[in-house]
Amino acid sequence: MHAIVIEDKQLHWTEVPEPEAGEGEVVIDVAAAGVNRADLLQREGNYPPPPGAPAYPGLECSGVISALGPGVDGHHVGERVCALLAGGGYAERVAVPAGQLLPVPAGLSVVEAAALPEAACTVWSNVVSHDKLRAGETFLVHGGGSGIGTFAVQLGRALGATVLVTARAAKHERLRALGADLTIDYSEQDFVRAVHDATDGRGADVVLDIIGAKYLSRNVEALAPNGRISVIGFQGGTRAELDLGALMTKRGTISSTSLRARPPAEKARIVTGVRDQVWPLVSAGLVKPVIHTTFPLAQAAEAQRVMESSDHLGKIVLLR
Ligand SMILES: NC(=O)c1ccc[n+]([C@@H]2O[C@H](COP(=O)([O-])OP(=O)(O)OC[C@H]3O[C@@H](n4cnc5c(N)ncnc54)[C@H](OP(=O)(O)O)[C@@H]3O)[C@@H](O)[C@H]2O)c1
Repeated sequence: MHAIVIEDKQLHWTEVPEPEAGEGEVVIDVAAAGVNRADLLQREGNYPPPPGAPAYPGLECSGVISALGPGVDGHHVGERVCALLAGGGYAERVAVPAGQLLPVPAGLSVVEAAALPEAACTVWSNVVSHDKLRAGETFLVHGGGSGIGTFAVQLGRALGATVLVTARAAKHERLRALGADLTIDYSEQDFVRAVHDATDGRGADVVLDIIGAKYLSRNVEALAPNGRISVIGFQGGTRAELDLGALMTKRGTISSTSLRARPPAEKARIVTGVRDQVWPLVSAGLVKPVIHTTFPLAQAAEAQRVMESSDHLGKIVLLR
């Protein structure tokens, strides 16, 4: 089969060995694969795959099961699925633990389904499972136009939260159409002030942050009493100073997780939560995949250039 292989920080469509379904795994014949910011880091050598994961990039895919490994129950060859991967989505076939499979949600094409697993699992595990965002609360999403952000905006709205987003102005109209109550141009506006203005000075109950160090103190300033901050990205660096007094006064919580590094059993727990709590919202049309553009798998390098420009809104998807 063919896969995208990284060599000297370049992506090459290369012939590679077929994957085999190990104990508890299935092989997926890939129809489509989502592109994620982390894939760019992996290409640059800054985000190696965890031990045992395929060497090729690609954290999510959709397709059809082509083989079952020993000990797999409840799935069959020919079944249409999408999956959360530790790597290897940029390939014609990939082996994945059965616990990381999700059905293609009712009403979606197999290609659309490829745009969902990574964002759904990341947002649900942080915002719903950990931060317990509730109806009536205020949810601040940084980078609302990202693949993660476009999903978070819709999920926040579907859960009954008031959704505030930061994004460049060119993305605001579409973010409001997706369910954002307030769009903040982070390049022109102070998001802390905008959040306080929008909440009568109370602040945001839950913050989903992809910027890291650069936003840490300001996220705490923007936080409501008993607020929760989930840091899931470091686009603004990893090292920052924090006034713990400011956090304590608000009885705030800061957490940070990486989905890819979690053990398979934890990923399976998250996938089950997504299937039970998020997929019904997707099937009901309340949360939709937002696909900016598609490229053939062999042109993954071009797809990553579009992502690097940050001019996209939502997901970029590779097609077999
Ligand atoms: N921890 C985890 O488990 C996990 C899992 C998945 C993703 N992530 C992280 O989530 C982030 C998004 O991933 P993705 O694949 O969805 O990326 P993406 O689509 O490439 O989006 C990146 C976004 O960052 C925004 N941005 C840049 N500077 C900003 C700033 N100062 N303030 C607010 N937004 C800013 C850009 O929007 P503008 O054009 O508006 O600037 C762009 O939409 C990445 O940092 C990724 O590493 C983490």
